[in-house]
Amino acid sequence: MAKITFVQPDGSKQTVTAENGMTVMEAAKRDAIAGIEAECGGACACATCHVYIDADWAGKTGKPAAMEEDMLDFAFDVRPESRLACQIKVTDVLDGLIVRVPAKQF
Ligand code: FES
Repeated sequence: MAKITFVQPDGSKQTVTAENGMTVMEAAKRDAIAGIEAECGGACACATCHVYIDADWAGKTGKPAAMEEDMLDFAFDVRPESRLACQIKVTDVLDGLIVRVPAKQF
């Protein structure tokens, strides 16, 4: 179980609780986090679950796999800390994770 805080572009924050085995995208959708579209439902095929991982957490969320890297090419305003939220599995290690939502998804 992990508490995940989503930070909107205006600085507003919302913290959700996610169970292990869910993805960060699923946790966001369940709690209706604004700005996470996830149009493909988590198949790594849309890039509309694009988020920025807070620098302190990058080591714990890991690096994107090749398929995720390819899909990130379609995201808006991609940065080194960009990830697709559907490709990050929740574990206890991510308790306290801070995720920034981009200004738009495409
Ligand atoms: S939900 Fe489509 S790529 Fe993540």
